[in-house]
Amino acid sequence: MNWGLENRLSKIFRPDTGRTVMLAVDHGYFLGPTSGLEKPAVTLEPLLEYANALMLTRGVLRKCVLPEKAPPIVLRVSGGTSILTELSHEGLTVDIEDAIRLNVSAITLSIFVGAKGERESLLNLAKLVDLGEKYGIPVLAVTAVGKDMVRDARYLGLACRIASEIGAHFVKTYYCDGFEKIVENTPVPIVIAGGKKVSETEALELAANAIKAGASGVDMGRNIFQSESPQAMIKAVNAVVHDGVDAQKAYQIYESNR
Ligand code: 5RP
Repeated sequence: MNWGLENRLSKIFRPDTGRTVMLAVDHGYFLGPTSGLEKPAVTLEPLLEYANALMLTRGVLRKCVLPEKAPPIVLRVSGGTSILTELSHEGLTVDIEDAIRLNVSAITLSIFVGAKGERESLLNLAKLVDLGEKYGIPVLAVTAVGKDMVRDARYLGLACRIASEIGAHFVKTYYCDGFEKIVENTPVPIVIAGGKKVSETEALELAANAIKAGASGVDMGRNIFQSESPQAMIKAVNAVVHDGVDAQKAYQIYESNR
């Protein structure tokens, strides 16, 4: 057993439920100052205690999160492209020694199955998995979508399976019809992204459906920090993920906390 790696995973996935509520705030690494994240420290302050893990870049981690307040960190270590260019040609942007210095619980990159940068992103994943195994740090592969690919079970299932075959320790993808099949065919835990901002009811339904279909949690960003009441929203998402409440009950929790 890779003890360090298992220990770090147990910081992200709550051992009592086996699930996680990750808060994703790494959007700026290719989008710049995303709405709701203009001042990351202000956005994060009321949310940190409700996140089982925080996904972000090292720049925002260093400047906007106090070491004593930080939940387990899932560090974005890929980038080098922006919304203005071909996104899929990402490279690795953080040396493993810096990830260790930052005491991260996992490292993460995007893979671009079906896009121009497919090969380089998958080889980057392989490199990270080797480093992760060497130093005891789990790797999260984020399945991004190629320009002409639809986000259906066939495509996302392909991307998740490839990521797990290369050795990712957990995978982040989108919820879609037939999600159960993706979970069945991916031999590592799956967390779902929230995607672009929708109503609180819809976002909670998405999370509840994903959990019911076998997701091991969420890695949600915009549907939390762009909510009218981000703290109420992350509390409601926690109830879905860890207490297994349905979307209706979760919405009541949201309403009573806003
Ligand atoms: C970008 C990411 C983001 O963290 C991801 O999209 C999650 O955020 P959201 O819930 O806003 O979709 O990994 O590649």
